[in-house]
Amino acid sequence: MAKPAVSSSSSSRVWFLSVAALIHMRTVLSFTSSSQCYTAIYSFGDSIADTGNLNYDTEDLSPSLYAVLNPPYGETFFHYPTGRFSDGRLIIDFLAEHIGVPLLKPYLGIKNGKIKDWNSLEGVNFAVGSATALDIGFFLDKGLYDVVVPTNYSLGVQFDWFLDLLPSICNSSSGCKEVLGRSLFLVGEIGGNDFNYLFQLGTTIEEARTYVPLVINKISWVINKLIDLGAQTLVVPGNFAIGCNFFYLKNFPSRDLEDYDGSGCLKAFNNFADYYNKQLLAELNRLQELHPDVNIIYADYYHASLQLYQSPSQFGFTKSILDSCCPLMNANNRNVAAKYCGEPGLITCDDPSQYISWDGVHLTEAAYKWITKDLLQGPFTNPKIRVSCGSDM
Ligand SMILES: *[C@@H]1O[C@H](CO)[C@@H](O)[C@H](O)[C@H]1NC(C)=O
Ligand SMILES: *[C@@H]1O[C@H](CO)[C@@H](O)[C@H](O)[C@H]1NC(C)=O
Repeated sequence: MAKPAVSSSSSSRVWFLSVAALIHMRTVLSFTSSSQCYTAIYSFGDSIADTGNLNYDTEDLSPSLYAVLNPPYGETFFHYPTGRFSDGRLIIDFLAEHIGVPLLKPYLGIKNGKIKDWNSLEGVNFAVGSATALDIGFFLDKGLYDVVVPTNYSLGVQFDWFLDLLPSICNSSSGCKEVLGRSLFLVGEIGGNDFNYLFQLGTTIEEARTYVPLVINKISWVINKLIDLGAQTLVVPGNFAIGCNFFYLKNFPSRDLEDYDGSGCLKAFNNFADYYNKQLLAELNRLQELHPDVNIIYADYYHASLQLYQSPSQFGFTKSILDSCCPLMNANNRNVAAKYCGEPGLITCDDPSQYISWDGVHLTEAAYKWITKDLLQGPFTNPKIRVSCGSDM
């Protein structure tokens, strides 16, 4: 990789670096200048941001992915399954509401002609549940494709989709710079699955660390390409506090109490996510120096989620981190043939808003709402004024 160019006009962007230096590294998602409005969101990622692409999937979906197209997914807000991996809205939906653009339409529905009422100038969602940052070749080489990696929708594939769609967004280079410059790019969360899959197959945390640069290089590559095309504002989330995630707690339990922190989270996985996020942030800082006129915003999903796990009752959650509303492969559901939330016969909770975990892996709308609010209003660190055209949450 090239050495960062030393920029002489780095002044106004350096808040970003100083935030990184703060102990808690709680970076807020913030908007650039007081007069700026975003006219669209273009989103890349995985199930954290997928607003329905799997509805239009042409591959054979694995049972766990297929289940998201069934109730009780979507029961809270949409009242039908939309393909979102939650009971209701996701971070990206709350973000769209805040900015004042329509909820994002899934690219695959546009591509296959099933979604007719789309306007690519209002933004498009390329994020697909199950997606990885690394291309499928990485997993093929390891013999992991089809074992745990169920689809071929990596970040690189999603970027190619964006290129395919680009002529319907803008034509000339200068036209693209203008249109894309007014858009907000959400690049992630992506990369979490790369490690989820590796850990599921018994990869040690030590070995997983050796893949961190590969994942971050891929994310960085896409950010650079988007900037070349004209992107001016990119929000790049890190990974969540996975050591507190129901799935990790159930799948990697330890008999040694020392392995848990005071909130009952697995220290080693949280440390890994924290390590990954610090590497990502370092790369974003490097990119920011290379592109001083662009706004690269790190979104700290780690601390935004961690605070929910640490003080659930403060956020209205009555259930513990070992509870999930509609859990995948939950011990409570041992006696039914169904294994996944969304398969008939599974017991679902009455009130998802009492839970942080929706289906064992993904979070409830209530949790995503708090996380977004926290990202937008940023109670932790930076007093930066964030103004948008949208309504306040
Ligand atoms: C995955 O998709 C890419 C791009 O569409 C394609 O080039 C590649 O051959 C696919 N790989 C597999 C294993 O299907
Ligand atoms: C770009 O050009 C193509 C072909 O001329 C046209 O169909 C399309 O609508 C144009 N896109 C925009 C955003 O103007």
